[in-house]
Amino acid sequence: MDAQGVHIETHPREGEPVFSAGRPDPCTLVLFGATGDLAERKLFPALFELARAGLLPENFAIVAYSRSKLEDGPFREHVKEGLKKFARTQPLDEAAVKRFTESIETASGGYDDPEAFKRLGQKLQDLSKRRKTDGNQLYYMATPASTFPQIIQSLSGAGLLKREEQPGQKPWHRLIIEKPFGHDLESAKALNKTLGSALDEKQIFRIDHYLGKETVQNILVFRFANAIFEPLWNRQHIDHVEITAAEAIGVEGRGGFYDETGVIRDMVQNHLLQVLALCAMEPPVSFAAEDIRDEKNKVFRALRPVEGGEVPQHVVVGQYEGYQEEKGVKKGSRTPTYVAMKMNIDSWRWQGVPFYLRAGKNLKKRLTEVSIHFKSVPIGLFSGGGATCQRLQPNVLTLRIQPHEGIALSFESKIPGEDVNIGGVTMDMDYAESFKKPVPEAYERLLLDCMRGNATLFARQDSVEQAWGYITPILQALETDAGGTVHTYAKGSKGPDAADALPSKNGRRWSTL
Ligand code: BG6
Repeated sequence: MDAQGVHIETHPREGEPVFSAGRPDPCTLVLFGATGDLAERKLFPALFELARAGLLPENFAIVAYSRSKLEDGPFREHVKEGLKKFARTQPLDEAAVKRFTESIETASGGYDDPEAFKRLGQKLQDLSKRRKTDGNQLYYMATPASTFPQIIQSLSGAGLLKREEQPGQKPWHRLIIEKPFGHDLESAKALNKTLGSALDEKQIFRIDHYLGKETVQNILVFRFANAIFEPLWNRQHIDHVEITAAEAIGVEGRGGFYDETGVIRDMVQNHLLQVLALCAMEPPVSFAAEDIRDEKNKVFRALRPVEGGEVPQHVVVGQYEGYQEEKGVKKGSRTPTYVAMKMNIDSWRWQGVPFYLRAGKNLKKRLTEVSIHFKSVPIGLFSGGGATCQRLQPNVLTLRIQPHEGIALSFESKIPGEDVNIGGVTMDMDYAESFKKPVPEAYERLLLDCMRGNATLFARQDSVEQAWGYITPILQALETDAGGTVHTYAKGSKGPDAADALPSKNGRRWSTL
C-alpha cells in the first residue's frame, strides 16, 4: 500500500527504556555446530554486533565446538571472513573484529566421545579462571535435532549441565536449541522429555527467530501501549485476519532438509503460529515471561482442530515448478513448499473471525505481514446521489513485519472536488523513517535475552506441544490421500490459484502479493 500524503511525527523517548536488564552475567558460550551455516550467517554476526555495541558480558568467551578438528587461529580467520560477508554493520571495524575473534577458542570431538567432553570440561574450568566467566555456561545447539539427545547426554555425563534446583542458582547452565522442536507431536514430546530429564524448563531456551524480530515484538507494544486499538480488537469489529510469510527464495541448497520438513513444519508450526498467538492473545497480567507465555498458550489451546476429511476445506498446499529437480529432493516428492490455511480460534474474542495464513517459497516477492481486516460500515450512506465510489473498502490495519518494516492503516476519504467522490488513503508508519536507527537482527536480541535469563521471547514446552497437537493431524492427512492435491505453481507467482478458494468461499480475498 502506498502512503498518500500522510505525515507521521515520531516522538521517541530516548533514554527511558521500559525494560532494560543491563549487562548479562559473565559467561562462556559453547557453540555446537560452530562450522555450520547458521553459525556463519547468523550467530557469529549477532555476537559480533553485541560485542561491538558493548552489550556482551564484560567477561565473556566463546568455545566453538565441532566434530571436525578445529584450531583457534584458522577458525578465528574463518569467522572474520564470515563477518565480512554477513555482519550487519559494514565496513567492519578491524579493531572490534580482532577483540571479538580473540574471545573465541575451539574444541572438537565426537558428540558421543566422553573424552572429548572431559576435555571440554577442562577448557571451561580453565576459561572460568582465565577469563573470569564465573562458571556460567550457555550451550547453543546449532546442530541437527537428531544430535540433541546425544549432546545433552554427553554434557550431563561430564557434569557440565546441571539442573537448576532453585531459581537464580549460580553458576547457571542454560541451553539454547534451534527448531525443529520435533517432527510431530510424538517426537516433540520425546524431545521435551529428553530435555526435561537433564534440565529445568527455565534453563531451556527454544529459539524461534521470528520472536526476536523488532516488528514481531512490536505487536504487543502496539496492542497494549495504545488505548485506541484494543477496544476494536475482537469479533465485534474485525472481519478476518490475514498472516502472510512469502519468500522470493527457494530451498537454497537445503533440499535434503527441506524435503523432510516442508513449509508447514518449517514456517507454520513455529513462526506463524507464534505471530498468530501474539495477535490473538488476551492482555497478559504483566509483561513477565510466564504471564505472556500463559496467554499465548491459551490461544494454542483454543485453535479449532482440523482433521482427516476436513483438511482440504481448510488447507491448500502447493509445490513450485522445478522443486523436484533441487539437489536432495526426492523425485515424486509431495512435500509442500506453499501452504494456505483457514484457522478458527474458539474463544470469546475470536468466535466467527477466520485467520487466514499463507507461507511459501519462490513466490512473487518477499513479504511478511499481518493484515487486520475490519468490518464494513453498517449502511451504504454514500451509495446514492453524487457518490461515484459505490463500494466502500473496509479499513485494513497492516503490520509489516518485513521488509519495509512499519504499520499502515487504510481508510476512506473524500477526494477534493464538487462531487462526493471517495477514495482510499493510507496512513503509514515506517520504522526506518520514524526512528532513524538500524533495526537489530533477531538473533542479537535473543542471544542477549538468554544471557540475561529472560525467556519471554522463547517458546515454552506446553506451547510447542499444543502447536504440534494442532498441526500433526493436518500433516497426517496431507501425507495420505485425505489431504488432497499438491498444486503446482510457477516460480515467482502468488502461489497456486486453488488457495483463493479458502477466503473466496466467504466472499473475501487475499491481499495482493
Ligand atoms: C527459517 C526457515 O526458520 O526461516 C527458512 O527454516 C526460512 O526456510 C526462514 O527461509 C525465514 O526467515 P526470515 O527471517 O527470512 O523471514
